[in-house]
Amino acid sequence: ETDPVKVMKQQVGKAAADLVKSGNIVGLGTGSTAAFMIQFLGERMQAGTLTDIKGIPTSFQASVLAKKYGIPLTTLDEVDRIDVAIDGADEVDPQKNLIKGGGAAHTREKIVDGLAEQFVVVVDSSKLVDSLGAFPLPVEVVPMAIAPVMRALEELGGNPEIRMGVKKDGPVITDQGNMILDAKFAAIANPADLEKTINNIPGVLDNGLFVDLADIILIGEIKDSQPSVR
Ligand code: A5P
Repeated sequence: ETDPVKVMKQQVGKAAADLVKSGNIVGLGTGSTAAFMIQFLGERMQAGTLTDIKGIPTSFQASVLAKKYGIPLTTLDEVDRIDVAIDGADEVDPQKNLIKGGGAAHTREKIVDGLAEQFVVVVDSSKLVDSLGAFPLPVEVVPMAIAPVMRALEELGGNPEIRMGVKKDGPVITDQGNMILDAKFAAIANPADLEKTINNIPGVLDNGLFVDLADIILIGEIKDSQPSVR
């Protein structure tokens, strides 16, 4: 593999999969970096260095990959703990706050990642920012509320756009049957406040700000064979 971004994603995916211990309940993240982690978990199970784990997927994509790589799945109805969740991110700031939802999965990701005893974020170094907000903030919205939620986000300075499908005419529909607004704020000065303010708008399920949730950030390094840790 020569694509440097892909090399970094593989590197952190492997390092994260190595943190999982036999018997763990594992939150399985969404996106191309988390996909490598799921693949490496499957390889460890094949090799016999990891036994008796169960995955809780954060998306349809994660559950498909888990099945492909032979990772047994469970649900939050069946288990009362998640030992470790491993997930990607779209932006990471120096306080380990995140923007997620580039894959429209942030609502389930926040449920799973937020419950985990340890939440490990896997990113390539391009995701590191000084301050969140260059990446438009994903907001999951119940479809009948899309117009008033757009107006409310405009009032907050968010400049929202309905996320449209790539191979579909019309909007992206989430795993829960909702729509996504991408809101471009000039700057996000206080992520904790903005997260709560947006989630208070009726019709909003959740937004992609993850404040004070991440425990460890594994950052892919092109010049080293080992990721750096924040
Ligand atoms: C999914 O909705 C996002 O939160 C992903 O975790 C994020 O988009 C990371 O994806 P990549 O690892 O593919 O960049």
